[in-house]
Amino acid sequence: MKELYLIAAMAENRVIGAGGKIPWHIPQELQLFKKLTTDNIIVMGRKTYESIGRPLPDRENIVISSHKIEGVTTCRTILEAVRIGEQTDRKLFFIGGADIYNLTVNIVSHMYISWVKGRYKGDTYFPEIDLLQWREAEKTYFDEFTMIHYTRPQSSSYSLI
Ligand SMILES: NC(=O)c1ccc[n+]([C@@H]2O[C@H](COP(=O)([O-])OP(=O)(O)OC[C@H]3O[C@@H](n4cnc5c(N)ncnc54)[C@H](OP(=O)(O)O)[C@@H]3O)[C@@H](O)[C@H]2O)c1
Repeated sequence: MKELYLIAAMAENRVIGAGGKIPWHIPQELQLFKKLTTDNIIVMGRKTYESIGRPLPDRENIVISSHKIEGVTTCRTILEAVRIGEQTDRKLFFIGGADIYNLTVNIVSHMYISWVKGRYKGDTYFPEIDLLQWREAEKTYFDEFTMIHYTRPQSSSYSLI
């Protein structure tokens, strides 16, 4: 089974989005996202894709939707996206939003979480997770956020999705 990755930026109150957008602008965080995901596969929900407005360059973009979307690989299920990832050596990152994190947080074995300092108003939240199940493999401090790379053994439920 392929190891699966998740990447997210969240505030201390777990907010990840507000009004269809990310409620902060932290260029250093975007650079980290770019560095980690470039040359790999990114899988996102249709609303996140619309919020970004275009496929992100130098990565294979997969959008999860019940409808075909022009100009980008569309999958109806997470499993369909994972199967595409299994055919390559590239890493597969679930990049949000909340619907996609809810569907995948139990099947990934790596999470890159940027903990953004402060509490934000928003309407979209990262799922509640038990961080005791996770090991902090790496922790990097920045002025506006702390990036933690969490790992755990691959969940066997992955084979059931
Ligand atoms: N802070 C971060 O790291 C981060 C990262 C990403 C996004 N965000 C924010 O999160 C918000 C968007 O998140 P969201 O939860 O509202 O939307 P989302 O997860 O981006 O997209 C939801 C859409 O994905 C499709 N989908 C979801 N589950 C599906 C399933 N089981 N089968 C088929 N299609 C499915 C549906 O598309 P259809 O309706 O087309 O069927 C659904 O409407 C925005 O505010 C965005 O800026 C934050």
